[in-house]
Amino acid sequence: MKSFYITTPIFYPNAKLHMGHAYTTTLCDIIARSHRLNGEDTYFLTGSDENTGKILKTVEENGQDVSEYLAGLRENFKDLYKRLDISYDQFIFTSDKENHWPGAIAMWNKLQEAGDIYKSKYEGLYCTGCETFYTEKDLVDNKCPVHQTVPEKIEEENYFFRLSKYTSVIKDKITNNELRIFPETRKNEILALLDRGLEDISFSRPKKSVPHGIPVPGDSDQVIYVWCDALVNYISALGFGRKEDNLFNKFWPADLHVIGKDILRFHAAIWPAMLLSAGIDLPKSILVHGLITSGGQKMSKTLGNVIDPDMLIEEYGSEAVRYYIARHITPFEDGDLTLESFKDAYNANLANGLGNLSSRILTLSQKYLDKCPEIPESEDFSEYFKIYERLEVNKAADYVWEKIGALDKMIQETEPFKVVKIDEKKGKEIISDLVVRLYSIARLLNPILPKTNIILKKLIKENKAPEAPLFARKD
Ligand code: MSP
Repeated sequence: MKSFYITTPIFYPNAKLHMGHAYTTTLCDIIARSHRLNGEDTYFLTGSDENTGKILKTVEENGQDVSEYLAGLRENFKDLYKRLDISYDQFIFTSDKENHWPGAIAMWNKLQEAGDIYKSKYEGLYCTGCETFYTEKDLVDNKCPVHQTVPEKIEEENYFFRLSKYTSVIKDKITNNELRIFPETRKNEILALLDRGLEDISFSRPKKSVPHGIPVPGDSDQVIYVWCDALVNYISALGFGRKEDNLFNKFWPADLHVIGKDILRFHAAIWPAMLLSAGIDLPKSILVHGLITSGGQKMSKTLGNVIDPDMLIEEYGSEAVRYYIARHITPFEDGDLTLESFKDAYNANLANGLGNLSSRILTLSQKYLDKCPEIPESEDFSEYFKIYERLEVNKAADYVWEKIGALDKMIQETEPFKVVKIDEKKGKEIISDLVVRLYSIARLLNPILPKTNIILKKLIKENKAPEAPLFARKD
């Protein structure tokens, strides 16, 4: 059986997840479900990035116990994922000493054995918001391009990783698609960056600045900095560095890392370099999605345009959130979400489109058919799966809604409600045909709307019209 391994980035558990975060994870879930539907042995990993100074600061400010605090935030993530029907197989968290730390330490040791770790003085511009060091040329008006704050000047003795050594190998692998970057624009962006060359990077921090980090093997004054910690989650979760490494043997290399465009360099330059140095296969592909904006601007607390997924779930249901993410945001570009655009899409395509169509057909079926007509055991969805393989999730959703539109048109043209009164046999045949086609749509909905997929198939099989609208109209 073909296997498929897909990952989300691991999220910082320092704030409530907003629609931007929910977007990455839901997008992954839709892709993962499409591969399961296609009969592949799919493994879906998500998690949280916990060994960071930023979290520590928040915890200290709140006067709370670090591990309790982290466990609580993790539960919040999981609760949201449950509400959104995220079908992850494992939730990794990097403060997990038993499951994650051995992997990070094993990776460090491999890089060291390869001669790619050395000690040196580090002078850098550190943005606490990003947890990242910047060089002068990364800054805009001397400020962090993300947070618009002046970064702190830091001077310390750190371990470095010879990232520069791998620039040309990575460039070749990306150019010849051994490591595929979707979409093409992001591939070009990273190739341009590789053209400018990569500098060696700081790979550790003094323990005093990140007291909860993973200790550097053989140097208790230093902890492993984010790269050899957070990025390693993709393999530590599978058992890399531990005895129980069956999952690693089965699923690595990853088929797909899904990330936002802000963490492209980490994933398409630093991570491949580490893997090359350690002699581990590179992931096969990386999908770099855009950011969700609201009213054309990046969602941010300061702008006050952050949209809380829970608020949308409460008002419209989780299926509506999944629908919007799948169809109204192109994974390859930035996508906009406002409360108005959400409501309009919901009313037009769920309350009307899908909801209305389902109740019309099921009402006719319940009224005129004795039982559910015969449904084919399986169907050929290869065209649909090909769209997912190209990662064009919005087009996969379009494909389903085109079928919904076509079926709607078919009802208008065949007028079964009239025909059945004149020629009962013919009317029933038309209705049976509509039911079979609706079942096919229900099957196609599986990756995008997992709840509706089940409800609709059940109603059809039981030959029952829904008691209440599947998607009530909102005014
Ligand atoms: N912890 C790092 C990732 C380490 S992966 C080994 C991190 N965490 S994060 O919580 O800040 O972001 C996680 C993901 O959320 C990133 O892929 C980022 O692009 C995504 N998003 C954050 N805001 C977003 C939007 N407004 N829109 C879409 N995605 C956004 O970075």
